Amino acid sequence: MGGGYALSSAFDSKAGQMIMVSLLLMAGSFYLGTIFGNNAPIYVSQNSSNSSSSSSSLPVSGTSTFTNKVALTYRKTPLSIPESGMNVCPITYNEYIPCHDPKYVKTLLPVLDVSRREDLERHCPPPEKRLFCLVPPPADYKLPIRWPTSRDYVWRSNVNHTHLAEVKGGQNWVHEKDQLWWFPGGGTHFKHGAPEYIQRLGNMMTNETGDLRSAGVYQVLDVGCGVASFSAYLLPLDIQTMSFAPKDGHENQIQFALERGIGAMIAALATKQLPYPTSSFEMVHCSRCRVDWHENDGILLKEVNRLLRPNGYFVYSAPPAYRKDKDYPLIWDKLVNLTTAMCWKLIARKVQTAIWIKEENPSCLMQNVDLKLINSCDAVDDSKPSWKTPLGNCVQISTQTNSQNLPPRPERLSVYSESLSRIGISQEEFTSDTIFWQKQIRNYLKLMNVSMTEIRNVMDMNAFCGGFAVALNSLPFWVMNIVPMSMKNTLSAIYDRGLLGAFHDWCEPISAYPRSYDLLHANHLFSHYGNNGEVCSLEDLMLEMDRIIRPQGFIIIRDEESITSRIRDLAPKFLWDVELHSLKNKEKKMETVLIGRKKFWAIV
Ligand SMILES: *[C@@H]1O[C@H](CO)[C@@H](O)[C@H](O)[C@H]1NC(C)=O
Ligand SMILES: *[C@@H]1O[C@H](CO)[C@@H](O)[C@H](O)[C@H]1NC(C)=O
Ligand SMILES: *[C@@H]1O[C@H](CO)[C@@H](O)[C@H](O)[C@H]1NC(C)=O
Ligand SMILES: *[C@@H]1O[C@H](CO)[C@@H](O)[C@H](O)[C@H]1NC(C)=O
Repeated sequence: MGGGYALSSAFDSKAGQMIMVSLLLMAGSFYLGTIFGNNAPIYVSQNSSNSSSSSSSLPVSGTSTFTNKVALTYRKTPLSIPESGMNVCPITYNEYIPCHDPKYVKTLLPVLDVSRREDLERHCPPPEKRLFCLVPPPADYKLPIRWPTSRDYVWRSNVNHTHLAEVKGGQNWVHEKDQLWWFPGGGTHFKHGAPEYIQRLGNMMTNETGDLRSAGVYQVLDVGCGVASFSAYLLPLDIQTMSFAPKDGHENQIQFALERGIGAMIAALATKQLPYPTSSFEMVHCSRCRVDWHENDGILLKEVNRLLRPNGYFVYSAPPAYRKDKDYPLIWDKLVNLTTAMCWKLIARKVQTAIWIKEENPSCLMQNVDLKLINSCDAVDDSKPSWKTPLGNCVQISTQTNSQNLPPRPERLSVYSESLSRIGISQEEFTSDTIFWQKQIRNYLKLMNVSMTEIRNVMDMNAFCGGFAVALNSLPFWVMNIVPMSMKNTLSAIYDRGLLGAFHDWCEPISAYPRSYDLLHANHLFSHYGNNGEVCSLEDLMLEMDRIIRPQGFIIIRDEESITSRIRDLAPKFLWDVELHSLKNKEKKMETVLIGRKKFWAIV
């Protein structure tokens, strides 16, 4: 056991002693799409030379050593990076998510509202309690299986958590198959597969005539998404799903989803608004999502009401919708009272699912406010990002309809949203942005010289109008569009284009597992944060990018020359390979673009 030996010797030795960090050879090909199809028997060659099916068979010829040390290192002010390179965190931190760290959250428990599950929300430790070391992959980590095979199979060693298979195997979520996890496409509520369930929902919404698209559904929020099979099987309908789940007892659902190449993020419905703009989804879906909608005066349903577009659907597949025993009828009555007060209409209730529609009906809402059945929210400034915003036990009554009639995807991709004109981005600027990114993507792909199959999970860390994602739309990628909360609030416009995204503040680590993305794009992100903040210096941002990028993943940083050249100089210490290029910016001036790749390294 070469792996175990070197690791334990690192711990036995005095702090600071050099140990080896090895570069694993890029494995020949993990793109198994051609090896087995969806139903064919699985065969993974045990002796394929590079796949390192166990750590003892590491190809010796492929190991080279680095000077980086393994050492548990916390962030100090002022920051300093050792001569030997960034320290590597001990292997036990291979799933480190700073703002969802159970050990830190435990210290906060006395002040958190646990009855409302505040403990599942983000809680970022103060800077001195954040790690300042590179997060290593787990033992025996392999380059992920590539899309579309990854929809059904992922390496067990990459998400080595048996809990889900143990508790959810019977519901066909996930099964073990030798070195792989197999996802048959089931869920708690769709044991017989998501496609059948999805068809049934479409039928319920259209009185047996159509599918979800014909019911006008193009953007979905899946609450408590499990391993995101629902999202995976909506893709053939070109329906985009933002899936989220907390990091809770059903361990690492989101990590499974991302390993499969399905867009998902960690989030919780508890005490704060979700980081998505108002009026963004045509459907909010909960299939046994374990959210107590009927509690606290239905405050969480009011968040759903905020997120739904007018005439959007709330799809609820859970025992209160169909069971007549225990507390279920009482819970159902409460749900009916709450949804009626919000003027939602129950349009279908059958098999195990109830569906409401949020009709636009201001007069009904005003009447219910007068009857004190519901509270009306104070007028809010729509340009304010929902970021750390406490939930309000109220509904917004829109007097003027600010909802554009959006076309279906893919036409939706070119919608110039009314919200852009409100924040001063003109139609001309929007159009030239779209054309600009189309050109840049061609440039990037040429410079990266990469096969399309190597990329699936993409994050645009400063997405502006979503032009980058639109330009990638024809490729088999999905893009998480992040709008920093201190930037112009363009996220509604991104949603109005049929894309998905979230607000974030890059002075804090993001709610993502390590090794989630194949490509990170940071356009003028570093200069925005200006390298001045206490906790969002250039090194902090690089460290966070390193945490969420997969081994061999691509990093594109486009910024001022002083920034990109500094990153180039630091890159070897982060074990990144980088090159500087120059491309024309929107004003046709030359601008530096750093293209980098994280090395595939592991602690041995
Ligand atoms: C998963 O982890 C356990 C120890 O927690 C280990 O014994 C096992 O070999 C690992 N399995 C894989 C497939 O990596
Ligand atoms: C479906 O049919 C029912 C009963 O005929 C009707 O109330 C409902 O509005 C219809 N729904 C749709 C979406 O057409
Ligand atoms: C629902 O509302 C009705 C009428 O206001 C009330 O009588 C009933 O107790 C409510 N049910 C629940 C479960 O709150
Ligand atoms: C691009 O990659 C291919 C094979 O991966 C290689 O043969 C070729 O030299 C590369 N081109 C450039 C310009 O680096």
